[in-house]
Amino acid sequence: MSSFPQMRMRRLRRTEAMRALVRETQVEIGDLIYPLFVVEGSQAKQEIASMPGIYRYSNDLLPGEGEDIAKLGIPAVILFGIPEKKDEVGSSAYDPEGVIQQAIRTIKKTTPELLVVTDVCLCEYTSHGHCGVVVDGYVDNDKTLELLARTALSYAEAGADVVAPSDMMDGRVKAIRQALDKNGFQDTPILAYAAKYASAFYGPFREAAESTPQFGDRRSYQMDPPNWREALREVEQDIAEGADMVMVKPALPYLDVIRRVRDTFNYPLAAYSVSGEYAMVKAAAQQGWLDERRIVLETLTAIKRAGADIIITYYARDAARWLSSI
Ligand code: PBG
Repeated sequence: MSSFPQMRMRRLRRTEAMRALVRETQVEIGDLIYPLFVVEGSQAKQEIASMPGIYRYSNDLLPGEGEDIAKLGIPAVILFGIPEKKDEVGSSAYDPEGVIQQAIRTIKKTTPELLVVTDVCLCEYTSHGHCGVVVDGYVDNDKTLELLARTALSYAEAGADVVAPSDMMDGRVKAIRQALDKNGFQDTPILAYAAKYASAFYGPFREAAESTPQFGDRRSYQMDPPNWREALREVEQDIAEGADMVMVKPALPYLDVIRRVRDTFNYPLAAYSVSGEYAMVKAAAQQGWLDERRIVLETLTAIKRAGADIIITYYARDAARWLSSI
């Protein structure tokens, strides 16, 4: 190995062409998934106060949004529903005429090439805002499984390309896989939110999706932020239960976890750059305190470099524009 002065590391950094030649990590538009919030009603486009530039759309506006997203080259959206009616058991989540079921049908009709991933969780649909059935003040794991399986099946029936359970109940991937297989959806893949942490970075999402728990918090089911070995066990369990792809969430504060999952498992790995990550960057950019475009592309590159194959990001549309104009 040569060293200075024979070796000069700066030789390969002199020009953009030279840097491009030796670049190790490349974010591509094809890696990105754009989250869409869907509300009931019509002609609704409501901006989320803590996420400037991100809206909740009613079903009739989805064809236009879907076309715009597909035209940018973004391969997939992930859908979140805000139902009009919430109850103790989240019935609107598995209603065949529910807000997400309708949204899936609309998007698949107008832009069939756009992959529709559906978040599978009950928190937007329950009156108490927890991700499962509450019994004596505690989220009951096994009672929740059947409802999650019903929800996932109903999304598959409506035409979802991928179902993505985000509730963090034990055994939900298995329950969903069984329900899909029993009903002829053996070819519908599961993207498991495998290592999902109980994070303060979800704050703006809960405003967007009206899914704040009405009592307590999610720490009895989502992961404790200090733990990374436990994340590997969560991923291992979800793979054993039949997950086709796994996810780490949030992304930026958990790059070490992304790296460890990548090094341990040979499954497609998604990272979710969550609402709080978007809000932080957006707020600072609006103040003129940082360069939004450079920060976003650097962040996405870091998530990819840590080992993610797929990135779910509220910046997907901007990033697609920026990446295609480079
Ligand atoms: C549903 C769900 C949440 C997010 C994705 N799916 C909220 C939560 O768990 O509280 C968060 C996404 C984000 O913050 O962007 N359980």
